[in-house]
Formats: sequence, C-alpha cells, structure tokens
Amino acid sequence: MTHDFDTPVSRVGTASLKYEARTTHFGTDDVVPLWVADMDFPAPEAVTSVLVERAQHTIYGYTDYPESLYVAMQHWFKHRHRWEIARNSIVMCPGVVPSIYAAITALTEIGDKVIIQSPVYHPFYTAVKDTQRTLVENPLIFENQHYRMDIEHLAECAESGAKLLVLCSPHNPVGRVWQRAELEALLLVTRRYDMTIISDDIHADLIFPNQVHTPIATLADDVAIITAVSPSKTFNIPGLGLSAIVANDKAQRQAIEQVFSSWHVSNTNPFSICGFEAAYQYGETWLDDLMPYLDETRLAVKSYLESTLPEIVLVESEGTYLLWLDCRGMGLDDADLHRFFIDQVKVAMSPGTLFGSEGAGFMRLNMAVPRVVIMNVLRAIRSALSS
Ligand SMILES: Cc1ncc(COP(=O)(O)O)c(C=O)c1O
Repeated sequence: MTHDFDTPVSRVGTASLKYEARTTHFGTDDVVPLWVADMDFPAPEAVTSVLVERAQHTIYGYTDYPESLYVAMQHWFKHRHRWEIARNSIVMCPGVVPSIYAAITALTEIGDKVIIQSPVYHPFYTAVKDTQRTLVENPLIFENQHYRMDIEHLAECAESGAKLLVLCSPHNPVGRVWQRAELEALLLVTRRYDMTIISDDIHADLIFPNQVHTPIATLADDVAIITAVSPSKTFNIPGLGLSAIVANDKAQRQAIEQVFSSWHVSNTNPFSICGFEAAYQYGETWLDDLMPYLDETRLAVKSYLESTLPEIVLVESEGTYLLWLDCRGMGLDDADLHRFFIDQVKVAMSPGTLFGSEGAGFMRLNMAVPRVVIMNVLRAIRSALSS
C-alpha cells in the first residue's frame, strides 16, 4: 500500500459541512463527526495537482465540457465495470441528487407514483415529495441480518400504477452490493409494467474485495434506465459537484436535459471538470489502496463488536464506507439512542430513522477516517455503556 490513510488531516477552516454543521445538527461541536458521507482522506495526488495547475491559470471563466471528460468516464466504466457507455447517452449533471430531482420532474407528472426501497438515502424521499409525486415504499426485507429486495411487493407497487423506481445500487445505508440475479428479478417486474428505473450508482466503485458491482444498465436494453454516476464518492471530491447520467432512451435523456436547462444549471465550474477527469484518469491506484484499507477497518469493527460490544451488531457490508449498525440490543428508543451517542460517547452518526422508519434502532457510521478514530469511538461506546 503506497497511500497513507492513517495520518489525520485537519479539516478545520475548510468550511467542511461534516465538521462545521455539527452544532446545528447535533447541538454541539464536541462530537467526532462520522455522519456526512465524505471521507477524511486526501483525494488522489493526481487530482490535487491538476486542480492546483488549473488554479494557477488565474482565469476562471465559463466552461464547457471537453470531449476528454467523456472519454475518461467511458474508459473508467468499461475498464472497471465492463460497461460500454455510448457517448451520446451521457449527460453531465450538477450532482446525483439534482439528477434524481430532474429525472423525476422530467419523466413523471405531479401525483404520479414513484417507488423507493427503504431504508434508503434520505434525499430519495425528499426528491419524490418536493416534486409533489406520490411516494410508494417497497421496504427491503431484513432477515438473518441480511437485506434483500421484496420483488413480490415491488410487483404490487408496480401494479398500483407506479411509473418510476429509484434504485440505490450499491445501497446506502445498508451496504448491499446487489447481485446480478437480484437485479434481473427486479428487471422482470419493471419490464412487465413498463416502469423506468433511476439507478443511483454513486457508490459503484466503493465495493469490498470479492464483490462485483453490476450496473443494472448492462443487463437490459429493453428497459428505460437512467443511471447516475460520479467520481465524487469514489475519490472524495463531492464538494466539486459534478456527476453524469447515462440514459438509454433518447426522449427521456432530452427531457432531463431540458429540465437542467430550464434551471440554468447545465454548465459547471473549471475545477469540477478537472477533478472529474483526473480522478477517472489517474485515480485507480489510490482507489485500489483505499478499498482494502476500508475493508480492514470494517473487519476490525466487526471483530471488536463481536468480542467486546455484543449489544451492537454490524450488518454485513459489501460496499460503501457507511456501516449500518444494529443497535437494537442496547434496548433504547430512538431518541435515547441518538442522545446516548451524542452526550455520552461524543460521536455524531446518522440516526437510522433518517433513512425511513425501518431504520429504527440502527445508526449509520461513516468509517472513512483513520482507523484509529473508529476504534477509539468503539472503545468510548464500550466504556459509556459499562458505566
Ligand atoms: C446514494 C447517494 N446518492 C447521492 C449522494 C449525493 O450525491 P451528490 O452529492 O452528487 O448530489 C449520496 C451522498 O451521500 C449518496 O449516498
């Protein structure tokens, strides 16, 4: 391993949401921030040097998307995910969440039903509600500490007239990397009911050794699929705010482009373009060091919980740097659970209920920090519970 993920980097004074918004969200800044999904690791060196070089140019005018940006993205997905993306199916976007909002706006009417699979990344809820669509939940089934999709209930949701499904693949917060067979079962339903899929693949690259992420778009040409991708989570550049969608249906793609154009957000800034391209072009060795590091942290957490903190169970995670902790064994209701971690452990995690009512009794821990930070938090939980 040539990259160092153990040395702490201070983020003080960088207007970091994760650090600066602690008081607003948790009532105190005296908590270790393990909530917002970015990493406390420096981005790949190649990304930084390209950004520095661009900054030194000193003119930061309006930008257009260079062809090399698309080429870097196409190469990445072909090489890492065996996905050949046609150039004309790509639309650059100002973020994955905005893409979900735009796609829902473009492809459905007010009141239309949109399916999400809870517990899930909370902006999926707001994207449906803020656009005045009707939320239809197809909760994941949780059995033997394992999450799976409820395909039968999905068919019932489709039967009720839902037009759109928002898939999270891999799934935040439960850490599933959906298997090909699961995605194929889902496609059978969407095909039968002529439903469109928006697949949020932002965590596609953050998968643990021995896992394979299958972009759902590689499994079906005859289902309308809009896949949202970005190097932002992968390479820790989410603040640069650039993503892309890949849409196989021309009319849908144009409708989404039209929404972005009507919001006047079709262009971006010079830094996000440089960061996006450099990450996909030069970031691979960094990522290939990152994932084993995160995997080791995950295994260290699992081992500590099993041996020393059995009140908390780590739900088996296949991808993402977000750990889903089953805290129901602590016997606290959600308000008390939340307060316990803030007041007694002094750690800020995301409460499970943020992701839906199915998250009651769970907490989401962002482990993308030097491992020692996580292990110290676990020790603090142990000692607070024992006192
Ligand atoms: C599943 C998922 N989608 C989207 C985002 C955010 O994407 P963006 O910052 O590009 O809007 C996150 C961030 O945590 C996420 O977990």
